[in-house]
Amino acid sequence: MILVTGSAGFIGAHVVHQLLSLGHQVVGIDNHNPYYDPGLKARRLEALTGQRGYIHVRGDIAAPGLVAAMCRQYGPKGIVHLAAQAGVRHSLVDPHAYVESNLVGFVNVLEAARHHAVDHFVYASSSSVYGEGGGQPLAEDAPTDRPLSLYGATKKANELIAYSYAHLYAMRCTGLRFFTVYGPWGRPDMAPMLFANAILDGSPVVLFNHGHNARSFTYIDDIVDGVVRVLQSPGEAAAGQPDQARVFNIGNPVSTPLPAFVSSLSRALGRKARLQFAPPAPADATETTADTRLFEATFGPQQFTALDAGLARFAHWIRIERAQRADRRRGPRRRTYAGAATSTCALRMDPSPGPGTH
Ligand SMILES: NC(=O)c1ccc[n+]([C@@H]2O[C@H](COP(=O)([O-])OP(=O)(O)OC[C@H]3O[C@@H](n4cnc5c(N)ncnc54)[C@H](O)[C@@H]3O)[C@@H](O)[C@H]2O)c1
Repeated sequence: MILVTGSAGFIGAHVVHQLLSLGHQVVGIDNHNPYYDPGLKARRLEALTGQRGYIHVRGDIAAPGLVAAMCRQYGPKGIVHLAAQAGVRHSLVDPHAYVESNLVGFVNVLEAARHHAVDHFVYASSSSVYGEGGGQPLAEDAPTDRPLSLYGATKKANELIAYSYAHLYAMRCTGLRFFTVYGPWGRPDMAPMLFANAILDGSPVVLFNHGHNARSFTYIDDIVDGVVRVLQSPGEAAAGQPDQARVFNIGNPVSTPLPAFVSSLSRALGRKARLQFAPPAPADATETTADTRLFEATFGPQQFTALDAGLARFAHWIRIERAQRADRRRGPRRRTYAGAATSTCALRMDPSPGPGTH
């Protein structure tokens, strides 16, 4: 049994899906908070709850004793901790949500893991722990003591707390610094979804820092593959890190300037994009390019999905998602999309043929 927190979230739902297909039993927890459309979280779950071996708990990891009670009841061997208040810019708007989920909630999950002899605690960190000026690509030993946002600071705090638990209680804790994840069932607050909706609505695509930012856009399947490999690993040491408290980047080693990303996305959607340039956003790093050498030296080579292949899958999904959303608004009378009645065009976790790799 594996416990996955944030299981109705973008990455969580995909990780649960993959664990179930590998034959694991999974118990998930998510509080379905309204940071973005809870309907999207519910639809991700619908795709999961039809599968054998999945139990869902709707609850808050910050609630005292809840995750501990789940551990008592289900006795998970591993925990994949993904529940968090995500979003760099939103941490300027609602800082307390970050403290509650990312600090109080994090310690609750870690305490539950400690008291219930969980073999491996794998948790989401972020490329946001790297501030500005560490040099590119960003390796795990680059400076992380100057995060640009409270979100990044809470993720760095998670790494430090995990280190102390690993040291004090000999727990195996692995933090994964994800780099800008995109793909089907993605987050509506993130650039890929904001840009795609703007392009399809004919609205301007806003590029901060006058379009000079670049990101390691990482396809969701590559993140899931990395998480599952780490979870299932027997505990390899990583060069220069203690065996029990490791931290790895998982991100596409090829980064893309934002204007080039919008061009590829607009090609995938078959629609022209209108760009609007804006000044830098204070919480945004200029560039995040992932150095994957430590991950690959520890777990073996990893293939990353080429941007055009990933965007083709994402574009396919978002067209169906938007058509179905329009149908829901319109009520029982259905229209057809791309030759298929949308009412019968179920969204699957993995909607289209295999991606190319580079
Ligand atoms: N998506 C990315 O590009 C990215 C990059 C770096 C790190 N991360 C991290 O990966 C993890 C998953 O991110 P995601 O993109 O899937 O985000 P997401 O918001 O889609 O998923 C997080 C889920 O956690 C749930 N949640 C939040 N607070 C909770 C609480 N107190 N109790 C129970 N559930 C709670 C939310 O309802 C949500 O469904 C997060 O920790 C995030 O910080 C994501």
